[in-house]
Amino acid sequence: MSEPIISVREVWFRYSKHQEWVLKGVSLDVFRGEFIGIIGETGAGKTTLAKHLNGLLKPAKGVVLVFGKDTRKTPTSKLARYVGYLFQNPDSQIYSATIRDELSVSLRKLGFRDSEIEERIKWALDGVDLRKPLDMSPHILSFGERHRLAIATLLAVKPDVFVLDEPFAGIDYKRSLQLLQVFKELTNRGHTVILITHDLQLLAELATRVVFMRGGSILRDSKPEDVIGDVEFLQEHNYTPLQVTVIGAGIGLGRLIRVLDLVKELEKRLQLQASLSTPSRCCRDPLPQQPYNTSTAPLLISLAAQGLSL
Ligand SMILES: Nc1ncnc2c1ncn2[C@@H]1O[C@H](COP(=O)(O)OP(=O)(O)OP(=O)(O)O)[C@@H](O)[C@H]1O
Ligand SMILES: [Mg+2]
Repeated sequence: MSEPIISVREVWFRYSKHQEWVLKGVSLDVFRGEFIGIIGETGAGKTTLAKHLNGLLKPAKGVVLVFGKDTRKTPTSKLARYVGYLFQNPDSQIYSATIRDELSVSLRKLGFRDSEIEERIKWALDGVDLRKPLDMSPHILSFGERHRLAIATLLAVKPDVFVLDEPFAGIDYKRSLQLLQVFKELTNRGHTVILITHDLQLLAELATRVVFMRGGSILRDSKPEDVIGDVEFLQEHNYTPLQVTVIGAGIGLGRLIRVLDLVKELEKRLQLQASLSTPSRCCRDPLPQQPYNTSTAPLLISLAAQGLSL
């Protein structure tokens, strides 16, 4: 396997000497092109770990290497070229008087020419679907719009790694999916995405790996189905498993997490059932073909399940 682009090794961290450890010996290797989801209950240390990935926080013990550079010895401004971090609260990173300034300030620092800056700004705003006058103040945007602006600012820089800390707060589901598509395409072009979220369905559809944190430690770091698809593990840690997984497990399909996979399995069974017996009313109507819309999933699943008399 190739070398990790970020390597977190046995990192311990606490916010002050008088407080408890918040990270307790965390190790994590991140590789180019991965789409990693980080989940875990509130206070587990997800944000604290994320802030170590671009040097905003430095380990008390252990080491974090970003493209081989020790974050304790490298200025955060230098690390920002490699790792872009989206704060959980967009207002923590919006400072400028206009949308244009907000988007161009880091690009100027990085030395891009005006024409390149204009191009990147346009591409980033399209990516987040934000269509506002560039001379408008970001502070009069709605919360969701400010969040999209913060994402655009990050997109415009196109760092190697995007660390997104719950980026979809205040953003509607359709726009969240559009944004995820943008990030997914970036991973196809060699960028890496690390997404902290509580939305298991989004991770099921997009992540290549899922990390589960609890009490400052990583409990699981594996393929999405090994984490999100483990009903007992999730329930043990106060997470509600996906409906897809519960139905899949109920009909003996193992660790299933993607809606489309469940629909395919159910289609197969319905066809088998139809060939063995007189089809029920439900089974004479074929299930819709591609393009498949995940928002119709619950309806499809319940229709198919009725057909199978589950
Ligand atoms: N600036 C700070 N000073 C002191 N303690 C902090 C600070 N920031 C976070 N903590 C504590 O560190 C622990 C981990 O916090 P962190 O924000 O990393 O959790 P999280 O997993 O991101 O939670 P959430 O899902 O709520 O965002 C919590 O107990 C929190 O109270
Ligand atoms: Mg957090």
